[in-house]
Amino acid sequence: MRVLGIESSCDETGVALVDASGPAIPRLLGQALHSQIAMHQAYGGVVPELASRDHIRRVLPLMDEVMAQAACTPAQVDVVAYTQGPGLAGALLVGAGVACALAAALGKPAMGVHHLEGHLLSPFLSVDPPEFPFVALLVSGGHTQLMRVDGVGRYELLGETIDDAAGEAFDKSAKLMGLPYPGGPHLARLAEQGDALSFKLPRPLLHSGNLDFSFAGLKTAVLTQVQKLGDGLEARKADLAATTQAAIVEVLVKKSLMALDRTGLQRLVVAGGVGANTCLRVQLNAACAKRGVRVHYPELALCTDNGAMIALAAGMRLQAGLARADKRYSFEVKPRWALADAAA
Ligand code: KG4
Ligand code: ZN
Repeated sequence: MRVLGIESSCDETGVALVDASGPAIPRLLGQALHSQIAMHQAYGGVVPELASRDHIRRVLPLMDEVMAQAACTPAQVDVVAYTQGPGLAGALLVGAGVACALAAALGKPAMGVHHLEGHLLSPFLSVDPPEFPFVALLVSGGHTQLMRVDGVGRYELLGETIDDAAGEAFDKSAKLMGLPYPGGPHLARLAEQGDALSFKLPRPLLHSGNLDFSFAGLKTAVLTQVQKLGDGLEARKADLAATTQAAIVEVLVKKSLMALDRTGLQRLVVAGGVGANTCLRVQLNAACAKRGVRVHYPELALCTDNGAMIALAAGMRLQAGLARADKRYSFEVKPRWALADAAA
């Protein structure tokens, strides 16, 4: 069974094809991605209208590329999957519209996928795939959640951010320091040259006793430091970046360990854009190794948004008998959509 996946929820157009035949983990047959980062950089953030228009321009050429890689024709595709939400409404509509039109033209079913389910399952495409059950730390630009995952579609929310997401904390702090969009990777690179003990920054909700996060206060503390430094910012920027990263990472690591303690599980899966952060990986690996906990990550290229995770999630849902692939082709997108509502 060949599943085509289309991702267009934000600023990346991703298309991929997986083979989800039999019970084995779906195999990636081809994938292509176009990032709009360069286009949005001039505005310091994603411009939704520009994002939608660019998805329209990119999606079909990307699909041709994937078909060529996989030596496959559209007629050989069995299901067309697309990101149904959450994300930018106009951007989601592009992927959903193209997917449903293509499915209708081919007479094949179409299937909406939850973007976070894609992230959550993306480590299954790595060379070291996890096994259920596990604790998932989902850290993207828009979400920060800890989840107990017992199987495909079996997700229990353990805790989440009450304000900014971890990726947002990286991006907003980076912007305050004058770094280009998207700030996360830029801040992380700069932090390598800095001293993480240079400033005092808060670790919000670290001792709250629950598994929720809060990063809005950190951003305010970074703003205060930037204002205090004034003209001296340039000389201390790497130190401030390192301190900010250390604060975010410490909270993510400690809460992940708490989630493992509470659930008694011995396996952690990290997914979403911030999962690409080296400092987070190093500290999680060290902390988990001490406890004999296995940690799994997506391949670096699959941490941020991509079509492969959407095709994979659709394939795994179909394999688990949870699919809602149908030939009605009327579609609605869900810009706001809790993963728990997309569960089995
Ligand atoms: O999962 P993703 O591609 O998009 C959403 O679904 O939101 O995540 C994007 C987020 C951005 O906030 C970006 O700055 C952050 O992931 N990010 C990083 C790194 N790479 C991407 N944050 C810290 N360090 C990185 N290396
Ligand atoms: Zn994402």
